[in-house]
Amino acid sequence: MALSAAIILAAGEGTRMRSSKPKVLHELAGKTFLERVMASVSALDPETLAVVVHYQAERVAKAAQSYNEHVEIVQQDDIPGTGRAVQCAMKQLDSDGQLTGPVLIAASDMPLLDTATLDALLAFHKASGNDATVLTANLEDPTGYGRIIRDSDGSVLRIVEQKDANSSELAVHEINTSVYVFDAAVLARSVQGLDSQNAQGEFYLTDALESARKTGKVGALAASDALSVEGVNDRVQLANLSRKHNLRICERWMREGVTILDPETTWIEDDVELAQDVTVLPGSFLQGHSTVAENAVIGPYTTLIDAQVEAGATVERSRVQESHIGTDANIGPWTYLRPGNRLEEGTKAGAFVEMKKAHIGAGTKVPHLSYMGDAELGEHTNIGGGTISANYDGVHKNRTHIGSNVHVGAGNLFVAPVEVGDNVTTGAGSVIRHAVPDDSMVYSENTQHVVEGWKPEWER
Ligand code: UD1
Ligand code: MG
Repeated sequence: MALSAAIILAAGEGTRMRSSKPKVLHELAGKTFLERVMASVSALDPETLAVVVHYQAERVAKAAQSYNEHVEIVQQDDIPGTGRAVQCAMKQLDSDGQLTGPVLIAASDMPLLDTATLDALLAFHKASGNDATVLTANLEDPTGYGRIIRDSDGSVLRIVEQKDANSSELAVHEINTSVYVFDAAVLARSVQGLDSQNAQGEFYLTDALESARKTGKVGALAASDALSVEGVNDRVQLANLSRKHNLRICERWMREGVTILDPETTWIEDDVELAQDVTVLPGSFLQGHSTVAENAVIGPYTTLIDAQVEAGATVERSRVQESHIGTDANIGPWTYLRPGNRLEEGTKAGAFVEMKKAHIGAGTKVPHLSYMGDAELGEHTNIGGGTISANYDGVHKNRTHIGSNVHVGAGNLFVAPVEVGDNVTTGAGSVIRHAVPDDSMVYSENTQHVVEGWKPEWER
């Protein structure tokens, strides 16, 4: 069923987060609440997608526009409350009073709200012929939520906020998720009569449901997945929800054939792709659009950010960002790969090695304590411990080229830009400033001086 409009409420400050950042810009698994809710709602293809802003309005509006360029921004005025937010939205979306069809309303502090849940709500709304339908959930602990109050025949009467509820109302476990579908005309009418005669002195959207009942048919659908409608009001709830969401993702991958030794300490974001027989060891963070191919072993204590790891590679106690790790490559422990590296098949980057924009040819090894920045290394080359590409002259970043089958001695310094050919051997401690031809040996003077019988001053 086509949606005439979707209204996402994002004007609140979220005081209980105790943050300088608006609540809806906090993140769960690498994406803001607002981005998540907007994505789920956008998938229903509403004719208008509106986001209501007020607290740090410009910042929230800018974020919303970055997630969906067609979003319509509604400014809520200084009058507080979810009901006021919808009044402001309807004033803008239905200025001529001609809006028809179903309108979806959703709070944006429910980061796991998914399209399947919204689809079910819409389908139910249509099938039941309701003028207003609220999405509810049955929670073991309903504390903090508005309660759904039903008639003795089961029909929905109204919603009572926690702060306005009496003891029998507080005993209700069915809660308001803050997701609704209203017929446009009924919504326009219902939000008109709101007042702020309640414990919080706010215009409650929940009261619109009771008004809708006076002229039309209202109903409720209980969400089948309680996690998808869980609201976040403080950071304790955020941590709990993040953990539950992460556990779900880990379990999905385990069922797909990934070994995860400890899901409690393994954090996998939504867009990560893992192949069969990948192993993820404890303390690992797999983020962004990272992909890991068959039989690769990630961790322990490894962070992948938008990284591609090919089959059979191992990445132990390392951080890899926007880099490609070839088949059977061996990374770590304690390797730091900054953006832009490509390590080909069978390469090695060892302990305390840092790389940035480096291309490491197949079979080449950088095993110990080295920095390769803006470097191009051929195949089957070995870099001695403590070797540095001096890529930055204070103004420009310059590239170092080292050929194939090169043996670089320990403690070399390549002063870029510089080119070293194939089949070269370099002496330990060399400072390479000029081009070195193929099939040669190069070393630089480093005179050793011995002063016999010398003693430190205090011993003299
Ligand atoms: C609200 C519901 C409550 C429900 C709960 C579900 C009301 C009165 N209460 O309470 O019944 O159980 O959500 O999580 O609706 N917002 C605005 N403008 C405002 C105030 C809030 O746009 O003036 C937005 C917020 O940014 C947020 C959403 O509305 O996305 C809900 O606001 P919040 O303050 O979290 O309401 P709750 O107290 O959780
Ligand atoms: Mg809330």
